[in-house]
This record gives sequence, structure tokens and C-alpha cells, in this order.
Amino acid sequence: MRLPWALLLLCVPGSWSLSGPRNVTGTVGGSLSVQCRYKKEYEAFDKYWCRQPCLPLFSETVTTSASGREVRSGRVSILDHPGNLTFTVTLKNLTADDAGKYRCGISTLLMEEGLPGFLPEPFFQVQVFVSPGPCSAVSTSCSSYS
Ligand SMILES: *[C@@H]1O[C@H](CO)[C@@H](O)[C@H](O)[C@H]1NC(C)=O
Ligand SMILES: *[C@@H]1O[C@H](CO)[C@@H](O)[C@H](O)[C@H]1NC(C)=O
Ligand SMILES: *[C@@H]1O[C@H](CO)[C@@H](O)[C@H](O)[C@H]1NC(C)=O
Repeated sequence: MRLPWALLLLCVPGSWSLSGPRNVTGTVGGSLSVQCRYKKEYEAFDKYWCRQPCLPLFSETVTTSASGREVRSGRVSILDHPGNLTFTVTLKNLTADDAGKYRCGISTLLMEEGLPGFLPEPFFQVQVFVSPGPCSAVSTSCSSYS
């Protein structure tokens, strides 16, 4: 693949280390999942998901746990699959307000062992679209979609 050097400079550092779907779509009351793929050198780091602009205190962030178990926070859960170098984020009981820009990323500040990380922090922006579900007008009847 040949890319002009200027285009490479425009890209965020480490953007080639992590990839995922640019757009994902769900329906109100339903759920959606996003799978982000990372390079092997990031296997030992924590993976996270947050809503842009991902400010601490303002944007809720879910982060994978070293134990390898699924981490859940409200309607959002995250699970790392080191076996195939992916992690999955699932959003449940979608509302129209969930539509927006999110980020899947890898926290390289600290390694699991507490050693400083030397790799740039990669992240990938994912746009979530939520379309009105067939039962959006009567949301109480939507439980079968979750
Ligand atoms: C994602 O959605 C945007 C806005 O609707 C659209 O312009 C873009 O082509 C989509 N990209 C992909 C890869 O589907
Ligand atoms: C999703 O909605 C269903 C039905 O209202 C509810 O039972 C369930 O606890 C909700 N799940 C989450 C993760 O909020
Ligand atoms: C990775 O593994 C998990 C769990 O085994 C699986 O759910 C997921 O679909 C796999 N992803 C890919 C891209 O193979």
C-alpha cells in the first residue's frame, strides 16, 4: 500500500495499531456491539470505550479488567479477547441519546506490571447511529428486543 507521507502525518499517532468499524447502527430498545482489533504488542494493556471527547469525569469510560472477565457499567459492557486480539463493546437498551461519536482505545500509560508504557496511545473513533425501532413509540413493549 502506498500512501503519501503527508497523509500519514495527518493521522493520529498509533492509528494503525487499532482498528474497528467506523459506523455502527442499532435500533432504539435494541443492542449493538462493536469489535475493535489491536496489534499483538498491545495485548497486555487495558482496553477502553468512552464517548467523545472522552473527558475524565464527564464521559463514562469502561475499561477491560486484567482478569479477562466482562466488565459492565450500566448498559455498556466490554470484554477483551486476547486469543484473537480483539475486544468487544456491547451497548444495550439503546436510546436515541446514545447516538454519537465514541472511541475505542488502549491505555498505554501503565502496563499491567506497573511499568511505564513506551507505546503511543492508540484509539479509533466509532460513530454510533440509533434508528427508531419498530416499537419506539411504546418503549415499554420493547423488552423483547434487548
Ligand atoms: C459512516 O457514516 C457517515 C455519515 O453518515 C458517512 O458519510 C460515511 O460514508 C460512513 N462510512 C462508512 C465506512 O460506512
Ligand atoms: C434493559 O431493559 C430491560 C427491560 O426494560 C431490563 O430488564 C434490563 O435490566 C435492562 N438492561 C440493562 C443492562 O440496563
Ligand atoms: C474473537 O473471539 C471471541 C471469543 O472467542 C469471539 O466472540 C469473537 O467473535 C472473535 N472475533 C473475531 C474477529 O474472530
